[in-house]
Amino acid sequence: MAESVTAAEQRTSLHGHWSSRFAFVLAVTGSAVGLGNIWKFPYVAGQNGGGAFVLVYLGCVALIGLPIMMSEILLGRRGRRNPVETMRILGDEEANQPAWALVGFTGMIAGFIILSFYSTIAGWTMAYTVKAATGTFVGQDAAMLGAEFGAFIANPIATGFWHTLFMAVTIVLVGLGVEEGIERAVRFMVPALVVLLLILLAYAVTTGQFAAGAAFLFEPDFSKITGTVVLAAMGQAFFTLSVGMGAVMAYGAYLPQDASIPGTALAVAAADTSIALLSGLVIFPIVFANGLDPAEGPGLIFQTLPLAFGQMPAGSFFGVLFFICLGFAALTSAISLMEPAVAWMVESFGLTRPTAALRVGGIIWALGLLTVLSFNYLADFKFGRGTIFDNLDFLSVNVLLPVGGLFLTVFAGWVMCQNSTADELDPSVGPMYRIWRLLTRYVAPVAVVLVLLNAFGVFG
Ligand code: PHE
Repeated sequence: MAESVTAAEQRTSLHGHWSSRFAFVLAVTGSAVGLGNIWKFPYVAGQNGGGAFVLVYLGCVALIGLPIMMSEILLGRRGRRNPVETMRILGDEEANQPAWALVGFTGMIAGFIILSFYSTIAGWTMAYTVKAATGTFVGQDAAMLGAEFGAFIANPIATGFWHTLFMAVTIVLVGLGVEEGIERAVRFMVPALVVLLLILLAYAVTTGQFAAGAAFLFEPDFSKITGTVVLAAMGQAFFTLSVGMGAVMAYGAYLPQDASIPGTALAVAAADTSIALLSGLVIFPIVFANGLDPAEGPGLIFQTLPLAFGQMPAGSFFGVLFFICLGFAALTSAISLMEPAVAWMVESFGLTRPTAALRVGGIIWALGLLTVLSFNYLADFKFGRGTIFDNLDFLSVNVLLPVGGLFLTVFAGWVMCQNSTADELDPSVGPMYRIWRLLTRYVAPVAVVLVLLNAFGVFG
């Protein structure tokens, strides 16, 4: 054992370190805050009946997502490599089981799938920046904006163009490895996004349906809880915190040894959750005030927010700012979705960062065309959960992330020896270590298994 501790202490990352703990917090915040908070949370909450879903989601964030985030950071920092290599090294060191590398590998695949559809939606937000700037929303009602959105996603050339542009920017940024640029963007963009959401909140209050929107979000109707709802809530918790696929682990590899892991994870989860709830509080009053359907689906924010921007004072100005900020938030998440695969190719195959980014990004771009087409030519091609997009979304968010997270908590809680985890999560400061260990060993793995089995009908 003493040997492996020394080995862990001596490992250093091949890509250098974050300049400070704060830089790391910013990077993980940049990864967590994105389309998951603003775009996905409201529409998934809407599809799953609101309040009860939100409650389960919050429970999953606290009891499953948070401990897994802490585990990912500690694994990353201890392994100091890309997630595949880190899991191989630690599996070998802790239990002579290098096959744990597979967990890193499937996480990477999940990242590919997620980014493929993420980029399409990020492309929509870029297109909507232009629409806001050219005054498209002014004087439009819900029906007109619905038609506008419908016509937009029906056009694969337009949506494909924005998807391509978004992937190109992501590839360039990941290829250059611009940590400092990312840091600066997050430091400015996340607070700006919050301010803009607060401005939108002020508008939402004037719609006359604020109470109805808040009630939808916060008054749980427990009769609405089904296995599918719980699975959706758990998937959303994983997705929004960026855990289960190695993004946080990849960033943890660059974390200085003296930074506190629980503090970081708590701060990120709190910020991330608040932004999602804020977004819900903005969207649902607009939904109810305009007779829209909360279960509308992925188009929800693109049909509600333009109503706000079309009606509020200086709406075009705020609209442009909002969609720019959302695009940046998406970009910092996209970068983290690519980081595990790119770091793997650089470290394990000796590629340069730009080459690795181009290859990984190229594959993801091609896969993303399927999502682009899922909203037009292939819209009627349905199987399993629905369109190709629905299936990619379900497979990655509701299956691969929880399964990946399950293996990670089992590894951190059961396979790793206590000395190693205590080494990373200093047990002498506060009760966090004991809470983490309890959640990681019992609560999180059992919960994930039960939710998965239940959703797939094992309990009848
Ligand atoms: N958390 C990001 C969001 O909410 C998405 C993401 C998922 C990023 C998984 C990295 C890994 O938008």
